[in-house]
Amino acid sequence: MPLCSMRQVLDEASKGGYGVGAFNVNNMEQIQSIMEAARETQSPVIIQASRGARAYSQDKFLYHLMLAAVELYPEIPTVLHLDHGNSVETCKSAIEMGFTSVMMDGSLLPDGKTPSSFEYNVDATRQVVAMAHAKGITVEGEIGCLGGIEDGHGAGLDGLSHLTDPAQAADFVKATGLDALAIAIGTSHGAYKFSSKPTGETLKMARLIEIHNLLPKTHLVMHGSSSVPKELQDIINQYGGKLKPTWGVPVEEIQLGIKNGVRKINVDTDNRLAITGAIRKVFIEKPEEFDPRSYLKPAREAMKKVVAQRMVQFGQAGHAKDYAPIPLAEMAARY
Ligand code: G3H
Ligand code: 13P
Ligand code: ZN
Repeated sequence: MPLCSMRQVLDEASKGGYGVGAFNVNNMEQIQSIMEAARETQSPVIIQASRGARAYSQDKFLYHLMLAAVELYPEIPTVLHLDHGNSVETCKSAIEMGFTSVMMDGSLLPDGKTPSSFEYNVDATRQVVAMAHAKGITVEGEIGCLGGIEDGHGAGLDGLSHLTDPAQAADFVKATGLDALAIAIGTSHGAYKFSSKPTGETLKMARLIEIHNLLPKTHLVMHGSSSVPKELQDIINQYGGKLKPTWGVPVEEIQLGIKNGVRKINVDTDNRLAITGAIRKVFIEKPEEFDPRSYLKPAREAMKKVVAQRMVQFGQAGHAKDYAPIPLAEMAARY
């Protein structure tokens, strides 16, 4: 099975009324964790790589690992998506490499920090849409800015200063012709999202619903959707880590989002926490170990557990065999 277009996966999710997790990867073990979780739960998958991940893995290594993934797991529809492309050029290089979906994050200027103008965002996203759709490749855009800066994405704001304006979102979708729209409703990247458990008010779920009502056919994307479970924080701290108490996005709020047009849910931090906790545990309990496999295997297993749990919670579990990937050339002809 070839890599699949994200548009097809999200269209199917929309028909079925479920969400699809988009999990970030940097290396082989993370890809293996996701593919094993997908096989166990029979889920379609979106695997995404940030610019940082592409640099870390020298791009080609990552791409060829993804080819191995589709060869070894032919029954799983698998998307390779560029997360937070910062410019038309970055998206172009991902398309040329073989990504089947790209995000043009024109909500920020190419420095990845400065909020851009609406006009800049429309112009950059339109250029990427023209280039990508000609090859059947999916485009995600973003309107409004997420909070946070710790991972290098975001304007360093509190997550509430640049919420998505529903009317502007509608104009943006119309002007760009994109496939999926990332919205800002109060989430941020990283582990430190909230200092107490957020409610639907904190997360501005009413605004999400308003956007969905205006754009019922647009696939919405929730970034910064790690739940930052206390159990994962506790394992890290139990084995010598120093995480401060923190809260993420409750799964029940994501599920409310899924009932209201959210089809793609971005998760990275929860997997980072699971991996780090498992590695720390081995280091403390077996200080004599020095074979990387002795700690990477438990790390892989810990990430797989989190991913499989999210796949069930988002509703994508059981849907891997609903459809066969449409060739990209056919997707191109549909635009
Ligand atoms: O968007 C943020 C993701 O967590 C990727 O983070 O840029 O550190 O790879 P990264
Ligand atoms: P988290 O940091 O909440 O996992 O968000 C990841 C994300 O949005 C990647 O684009
Ligand atoms: Zn993001």
